[in-house]
Amino acid sequence: MAEHILVVEDEQAQRAIVGRILRKRGYQVSEASSAEEALEKLDRQTVDLIISDWKLGGMDGMELLGRVKDQCPETSFIMITAYGTVTHAMEAVRAGADDYLEKPFERGSLLLALERTLKSKRLHDENQRLAAELTQRDRLVDLIGRSAAMQKIFRAVEKVAKTVATVLITGESGTGKELAARALHALSTRKNGPFIAVNCAAIPDGLLESEFFGVEKGAYSGAHQTRKGKFQAAEKGTLFLDEIGELPLSLQSKLLRVLQEKTVTPVGSVVEIKTDVRILAATNKDLAGLAGQGSFREDLYYRLNVVSLDMPPLRERREDISSLITHFMEQAAKAHGVVKPSFPPALKRRLLDHSWPGNVRELSNTIERLVLLAEDGHASLEDMPSAVGRKAEDTYELPPAGLNWESHEKACLQQAIDMTRGNRSRAAKLLSMPYKAFLYRLEKHGLKPK
Ligand SMILES: Nc1ncnc2c1ncn2[C@@H]1O[C@H](COP(=O)(O)OP(=O)(O)OP(=O)(O)O)[C@@H](O)[C@H]1O
Ligand SMILES: [Mg+2]
Repeated sequence: MAEHILVVEDEQAQRAIVGRILRKRGYQVSEASSAEEALEKLDRQTVDLIISDWKLGGMDGMELLGRVKDQCPETSFIMITAYGTVTHAMEAVRAGADDYLEKPFERGSLLLALERTLKSKRLHDENQRLAAELTQRDRLVDLIGRSAAMQKIFRAVEKVAKTVATVLITGESGTGKELAARALHALSTRKNGPFIAVNCAAIPDGLLESEFFGVEKGAYSGAHQTRKGKFQAAEKGTLFLDEIGELPLSLQSKLLRVLQEKTVTPVGSVVEIKTDVRILAATNKDLAGLAGQGSFREDLYYRLNVVSLDMPPLRERREDISSLITHFMEQAAKAHGVVKPSFPPALKRRLLDHSWPGNVRELSNTIERLVLLAEDGHASLEDMPSAVGRKAEDTYELPPAGLNWESHEKACLQQAIDMTRGNRSRAAKLLSMPYKAFLYRLEKHGLKPK
């Protein structure tokens, strides 16, 4: 795809000339008549290179350069300075500009500076891409993770997979407990046997025993035929007991017996059937705590917890976010037969900064949504689920000393204006306020955006 160049110049004629030269060369060109407009465009689209005049109405080229280096450091920058202002040129390069051009410049020198800059950017991008590419080391079966915390989990999974030890997998919701269980199975000698997952919370208490151990025909009035339980279904394979913390006490003792005796007795039967099943269990509850309170059998807890795997929450391994984004983006694009969209810098920042209380599942759902709603190959900040990245108002705590409402309101309005660089409709959105209500409040506080 053609590289995207943003021309920032307040003189319309000059801007049009540069734009025309670049378009003719096959570049994709956007134009902005001010630094403010340029910044707004930058938030929405990925720009490869900015050519900006030093002198602009409002914010000048140097200030724009500073903001660009800060907000999208991967964008290259060429500064255009007035004739005879070599100090400006030096200043710009010192501040991070890739090159400069002195006015008036010729078509040839414009293209030369541009191509030189883009060439080194391409090299740099390629190196970044290689570094970001998921290597074998970043992946274990379907688990992705390059953080030290996940690498530690990987090593533990590899080691334990080879044994028949019972494993208790703990961690917050969405941290990949089930995926870890599947990896343990896939890396074990039982990999060709069945992997059966049972969600202990989803089965009504009265049915749990027959679901687990099977039922003999005629055991009770509804039992018209003999049915196998999950233990038998998992024979020579792995049985994954999800949400084990929800298992009622009565069944906990039966499960404990099965684990000790390695035999099951179907409901209504007297025959014990030998089983060869590897047990994995998962919970997002504090099982040790429940055991302490007496709502989970302590002996069963120890039986299950021969080895434990504690899946770390995503906020404690932020290095994984960007590889997970890449992974889910590819997955979603493939699943839905669409192209991978580009993510504008503001969106990327938001994804990387979010605390992800719903962990990897929340991230995966968010990326899928962004990919599906992308238009013309660009994902958009507006398609973010509203909970992501937004500060939760519900968790706002009034300072113990209280606050001055009027000045608090004024400060919020001012910050919204600053954050959106004076774009009033976006500022109103940021505060979840109808546009008119926002204008009314601005006026009340005598605030005027630039
Ligand atoms: N490390 C990871 N790499 C890739 N995908 C992951 C990873 N962790 C989780 N996922 C994905 O996130 C989603 C949630 O994972 P999983 O179901 O294993 O979580 P869980 O801990 O069992 O959650 P819950 O407690 O809510 O059942 C799944 O779609 C899974 O594929
Ligand atoms: Mg789960």
